[in-house]
Amino acid sequence: MYTNWEELNAACNSCQKCSLCKTRHNVVVGVGNPHSEVMFIGEGPGENEDLQGEPFVGKAGILLDKMLSAVDLDRDSNIYIANIVKCRPPHNRDPKPEEQELCINWLRNQVALIRPKIIVCLGRIAACRIIKPDLKITREHGIWFQKNGVCMMAMLHPAALLRDPRRKPEAFADFLALRGKIGEICEHTYR
Ligand code: URA
Repeated sequence: MYTNWEELNAACNSCQKCSLCKTRHNVVVGVGNPHSEVMFIGEGPGENEDLQGEPFVGKAGILLDKMLSAVDLDRDSNIYIANIVKCRPPHNRDPKPEEQELCINWLRNQVALIRPKIIVCLGRIAACRIIKPDLKITREHGIWFQKNGVCMMAMLHPAALLRDPRRKPEAFADFLALRGKIGEICEHTYR
């Protein structure tokens, strides 16, 4: 466990724990304010993220930024965004369980340094890994779970919303619920 961001970022950026290191262009460690009370967790980098070294910078990321901005959240000021795996799985396949297992300690270390009050899981892979293995994303997105003293919610993945825009109102309702929860339990996110 690293106790400061410089060491954590440096070690993560040179990670060779799994074979994804062989095909990556960049390790996508995370982005945002390390003092955030709210953390978003996605699945893993896609092509644009791999090339730019930042999470959610492709089409799904643009949609995510829009929904964040609708509830006064912004990756450059009051949230932190990371992924379950830090390197791109080839052809955007799901990260394998063994890749998740070998990578998850980086995320654990990030959570330990940030100590967020709220964790939002974007999509099924992150929600099943972080909230509970049998979470059903279509039925259980938008529901609050309490785990290790942290409020957690799954949201529909922005890439899924791009594939099926009819689900956007559901997703927006979850962002409104998030705004409400932040108002209840966070001290400086909206100040
Ligand atoms: N999808 C994810 O889950 N994470 C990213 O960083 C980009 C797309």
